[in-house]
Amino acid sequence: MFGKKRRWHLLKGQEPTEMDKKILYWENKGKLVPTRDLIKTPEQIEGIRKSGVVNTGVLDEVARQIHIGMSTLEIDEICRKYCEEQGATPACLGYEGFPMSVCTSINEVVCHGIPKKEDILKEGDIINVDFTTILDGYYADASRMFIMGKTTPEKEQLVRVAKECLEIGAEAAKPYGFVGDIGHAIQKHVERYHYGIVRDLCGHGVGIQFHEEPEVAHYGHRGQGMLLVPGMVFTIEPMINQGTWKVFIDADDKYGWEVITGDELPSAQWEHTFLMTEHGLEILSH
Ligand code: MF3
Ligand code: CO
Ligand code: CO
Repeated sequence: MFGKKRRWHLLKGQEPTEMDKKILYWENKGKLVPTRDLIKTPEQIEGIRKSGVVNTGVLDEVARQIHIGMSTLEIDEICRKYCEEQGATPACLGYEGFPMSVCTSINEVVCHGIPKKEDILKEGDIINVDFTTILDGYYADASRMFIMGKTTPEKEQLVRVAKECLEIGAEAAKPYGFVGDIGHAIQKHVERYHYGIVRDLCGHGVGIQFHEEPEVAHYGHRGQGMLLVPGMVFTIEPMINQGTWKVFIDADDKYGWEVITGDELPSAQWEHTFLMTEHGLEILSH
């Protein structure tokens, strides 16, 4: 089981490695440390890396084809087709009742927007396209924003700042640092613009399952949360709202998936899958 809380244990008959020593040091100080299953083996990392290449390819294909006048259902078809051509599967399809292959979230839709033939992209829309690939059992998860034609300066800035949040959060993540370092850095940047950071949805460990530990909050304090150890794979995916940070499930969505902002002002999000290395984060899918 992922995330089952066990104390860090040394492998039988082996001398403690430098990694073991550092993890035990922090665990003895009362910090949350990963379980062994959250530290991927070289073979698992290779698998997730390959899945990440397909996942990036899906979003590149969306970037090539997205245009004003197309429906979000067409985006779904593009993603599923490209993914399946690579011998991979869309993770979203059928996941906890999600009915489609990709999440398409326009303007005030924060995330988990469901593709529909009647949702037609129009000039000035901002849309997040979030896709997760399963290749040979390995998961990779990423999302990007697309601006349709010319939009308002407000929406343009929101999209830019959301991307900066992802980059600044990633920069703050250091080996043997903590998950809270990421959220702290993002929160500081967001507050400069008086935007709202969504608190109800977080980044997450990923790779062997869709959503693993740790939970990666996009706000918080340095030194909080789980210790970051080389070999961990997780997403950072800040959702930044122009107005309130509060979000709701859209009452009109019969599936109960679509998340919207409380004041119906726009929201923007970018997401990468990252591998923690001895030197900092490496992007596995963008
Ligand atoms: N890809 C989303 C994430 O970043 C999860 C989507 S779940 C779905 O974690 F069911 F809505 F597809
Ligand atoms: Co994710
Ligand atoms: Co995602």
